[in-house]
Amino acid sequence: MKDAQPKTIYLKDYRPPDFLIDTTELRFELAEDHALVHSKLKLRRNARADPQAALKLDGQELELLAVALDDRPLLPQQYLLADKLLTINSVPDEFYFSCTTRIKPQDNTSLEGLYKSQSMFCTQCEAQGFRKITYYLDRPDVMSVFTTRIVADTKKYPVLLSNGNEIKREQLADGRGSVTWHDPFKKPAYLFALVAGKLEFLQDKFTTRSGRDITLRIFVEPKDLDKCAHAMVSLKNSMRWDEQVYGREYDLDIFMIVAVDDFNMGAMENKGLNIFNTSCVLAHPDTTTDLGFQRVEAVVAHEYFHNWSGNRVTCRDWFQLSLKEGFTVYRDAEFSADMGSRTVKRVEDVALLRTAQFAEDAGPMAHPIRPDNYMEISNFYTVTVYEKGAEVIRMLHTLLGPDRFRAGSDLYFERHDGEAVTTDDFIRALEEASGVDLSQFRRWYTQAGTPELRVSGNYDEASRRYTLEVQQSCPATPGQADKKPLHIPLAISLLGKGGSLCLQLEGKAAPETADKTVCVLNVTEARQRFTFTDILEPPVPSLLRGFSAPVKLQCNYTDAELLFLLRNDSDGFARWDAGQMLAVRQLQCLVADFQAQCESQLGSNFIDAYRELLQYTDLDKAMVALMLELPSEAYLGEMIQPVDVLTIHCCRTAARRQIARGLEPELLHVYEQNRVTAAYAANAAQIAQRSLRNRCLSYLMLLASEQHVRRCESQFNGASNMTDAYAALRALVHSDAEVAVEARQAALDAFYQRWQHEPLVVNQWLQVQASAPLPNALETVHELQRHPAYDASNPNKIRAVVGAFCAQNPINFHKGDGSGYEFLADQVIALNTKNPQIAARLLGPLSKWRKYLPAAQAGMRSALERIQAQKNLSKDVYEVVSKSLQ
Ligand code: TRP
Ligand code: ZN
Repeated sequence: MKDAQPKTIYLKDYRPPDFLIDTTELRFELAEDHALVHSKLKLRRNARADPQAALKLDGQELELLAVALDDRPLLPQQYLLADKLLTINSVPDEFYFSCTTRIKPQDNTSLEGLYKSQSMFCTQCEAQGFRKITYYLDRPDVMSVFTTRIVADTKKYPVLLSNGNEIKREQLADGRGSVTWHDPFKKPAYLFALVAGKLEFLQDKFTTRSGRDITLRIFVEPKDLDKCAHAMVSLKNSMRWDEQVYGREYDLDIFMIVAVDDFNMGAMENKGLNIFNTSCVLAHPDTTTDLGFQRVEAVVAHEYFHNWSGNRVTCRDWFQLSLKEGFTVYRDAEFSADMGSRTVKRVEDVALLRTAQFAEDAGPMAHPIRPDNYMEISNFYTVTVYEKGAEVIRMLHTLLGPDRFRAGSDLYFERHDGEAVTTDDFIRALEEASGVDLSQFRRWYTQAGTPELRVSGNYDEASRRYTLEVQQSCPATPGQADKKPLHIPLAISLLGKGGSLCLQLEGKAAPETADKTVCVLNVTEARQRFTFTDILEPPVPSLLRGFSAPVKLQCNYTDAELLFLLRNDSDGFARWDAGQMLAVRQLQCLVADFQAQCESQLGSNFIDAYRELLQYTDLDKAMVALMLELPSEAYLGEMIQPVDVLTIHCCRTAARRQIARGLEPELLHVYEQNRVTAAYAANAAQIAQRSLRNRCLSYLMLLASEQHVRRCESQFNGASNMTDAYAALRALVHSDAEVAVEARQAALDAFYQRWQHEPLVVNQWLQVQASAPLPNALETVHELQRHPAYDASNPNKIRAVVGAFCAQNPINFHKGDGSGYEFLADQVIALNTKNPQIAARLLGPLSKWRKYLPAAQAGMRSALERIQAQKNLSKDVYEVVSKSLQ
């Protein structure tokens, strides 16, 4: 920011573009200290717009060297350069605009536009990075056919890539080479990409269901070529899956992925040329954990699926971001569910939603999945737009059923292919194809906040009726005081002694569904009753099965009923959730007792339920591992407010220690029984076994005994894969036991020695230390930042140290002296101009200051105020800080 306050952009102010760009011809000349960009645009007036309108092109941090209209150079008085716009007042209805800009990729630390990552040139244009390359109509509703020629030194940059198909390759006299790419599909500028570097590739091919052969290439630095196989398999699985499940085929002749080290996000879906953070594409059993393998599979799928949900059909404006992101996250989640364990995937996603997204919905940055205003669009790539957006699509799928949903998505893709559209266009397609009225459902797009459902059940023995009374409400969020009732699909079953009961809703025809024991209730009013007839025994209701809606559920269950659901529910998610509800109750008691200074413990029933879990043979081992985990400190912080960080941490740790003490022989037995002997594979069965075994290890390590420390050490030293090595390292590094002190340091040193040349493994090494809940963590963090392995301009390193300390080390970040808050403020201030996107993202934990105890609030607030007082705040940081303090 110069001095003026950044202005707010409103959805209601949307106007169609005054001009359209039919073709875009680009020529890049890449040099070490600058790059020249020559651009020639075929422009024409938009028939829908003002016939007198001036041409206004976006441009930022550009040096304009030449500008011409229909090849005639413009004199300085014929155009105006001001306020990030190039304005030309009188232009014909159709013309060519050309210009040359000089940019400095080597000085671009924002990682937006054209920049250098190590020795490689690459781009990131979403959302508004293209304007840092050349003057353009940088908005997603302007779609153009791109031809891109790249000229660069052949020795340094033998590989030159852009979107589409390669059409020409030349060796120039001066040691430079040139490659030209043509992308026949119209696209907005945010999908443009360019890469130049000394890269090698893994190649494969995919035959589409209509018989076209597609070349697949994953480009990496030579040393990483052995880490591409998993991404390649994931890509081919994604391509097949999108054909089978959505009927979507790939369209170009080649699909390329490039891995770069310096990247603000996970990956980017540029047409035909996806660019990935190395952390989301490279995988090898020696260097990557199971979680890492799963992340690669999910992100490869996500970016690939964007080819239809995002690229072929794109967004009209950035308020519609969830049109592509919510839908694509839903698609990748379903893909991952089909590739691995469906229930595990669901539980993991719900856990993320309930912590991060519910917290966002309850904080100062709360927004609907289709926001109606923003200052900086980069701040709206949020868990709300992505994950809650995906939940909204999932609800649509539930309401329509698979066949009508598919008919709706088919209609959407056919009707809008090649267009830039809105979330409402999507809903309309589903509505028309299915005949389902979604008018009330649309409120999910405009209303922020997490709805609360209060459900109580009543059985009437005489009439054999069971009645559920359902109430919904939604708390106020910034700018939205009153909320209207939403259309909420509530999936339920009624469990009797012998299993799920058949459901007959009073006054409704019997359901046509195959499974008569599951029913989706349409909750549409603030208060509503649903009565089931012919219920022969008092049932236990199983509610919100599969997490059928992104809401907070309150139900007056007894502990006995929750234990019954935990043992008997046929829905894996509901079973897990019953355990969570039970655990939250237990921990709420522990916290209350702690605060009242009385000692208390987990109930023996609860320990018994955990013991039973360890003995189950019918359950997926990954589910057992998940069910054995107490709700996270972050989730407990959502449930018990004002948040008392230290008490929550102490009570949860004490509870885990009690579980370990009470179940030591069982944990040890399961640990010993679940050694994987087969060669490493990232398949569901092996992943499940390792996760259960390592969960047992982490419990055993809480017992602080010599014997378990030795066991952990030997797992660390003998591990044949990163999952087991890292789990042991983490258990050692996070242990506060005196007997683990030496082993911890030895493991850290050995790990670094062995992996210092693998940046992604070094990130794990940094992260495990920055997130350790031990005294003096901040000192450790300072040391890590001085370590040669640290790089203050690499987002992955910043996330591994600063991000992990502030978001995954609550007791240290919230230390009573406020040092954690001051540290984060310093980091944000240092990054503010260097990389505004990352600076604003790091601020997340501080922005939610209002939910903490008064002393913590004061410290967080003063850290925010110190940031706010800085001169030259970026739009990104300004928006988060000012909204947080409002
Ligand atoms: N569209 C990308 C995705 O979700 C998100 C993304 C990648 C992004 N890089 C970015 C968003 C930089 C903003 C800025 O797949
Ligand atoms: Zn995406």
